[in-house]
Amino acid sequence: MKELIVATRNRGKIHEITALLAGLVDQVSSAADFADFPETIEDGVTFEDNALKKAREAARFTGLPALADDSGLAVDALDGCPGVFSARFAGEHAGDAANNALLLEKCHNIPEGQRQAAFVCVVAFVTPDGEEQLFTGRISGQILSSARGEGGFGYDPLFLVDGFDRSMAELTLAEKNGVSHRAQAIGKFLEYLRATELVKNVV
Ligand code: IMP
Repeated sequence: MKELIVATRNRGKIHEITALLAGLVDQVSSAADFADFPETIEDGVTFEDNALKKAREAARFTGLPALADDSGLAVDALDGCPGVFSARFAGEHAGDAANNALLLEKCHNIPEGQRQAAFVCVVAFVTPDGEEQLFTGRISGQILSSARGEGGFGYDPLFLVDGFDRSMAELTLAEKNGVSHRAQAIGKFLEYLRATELVKNVV
């Protein structure tokens, strides 16, 4: 694919997604490359609703095929919260530090062994001529009682990845991109892209 717009201004996501698309998309641009890129109101009740809304608006605004993800952390003992509210858990303009502090507070009384959680990512691919596809990824882990590691972004320092003795923030970018919810969803998108590009080249 020649050109694709990734509908996010989140530097952490742009960095991860661009690395994952390398080799299959010639030019990846993002919302951060446009001064007047529209701000999508994420008022959906599911990751699917929000991802589709962001991708549709980006495809309409740029006239390019658009990829958008909606993702978040779902903690079992908090009934799946913060979920779609992950980015604004501690308030509309809260940053990672405030969100992480609130997560620690909410999980304070959850005993060891009941701290299961998952990062979930839904990727929407929308083309200007109206094609729409959804892809989902999920990774399980446990909520830590204090932050560990400097890498990644968001809740990474508080998420102990199942199968690793490290938090998501203690993984390298390559390791995170080998297992993460976002990598899994984008991996499914890439499989789809390979298959459809193959068909286009044959037809
Ligand atoms: P979105 O931009 O509306 O999809 O919100 C995503 C929010 O979920 C981020 O701001 C983070 O708080 C959290 N999140 C999503 N993916 C990750 C991740 O890979 N690591 C840590 N936090 C994440």
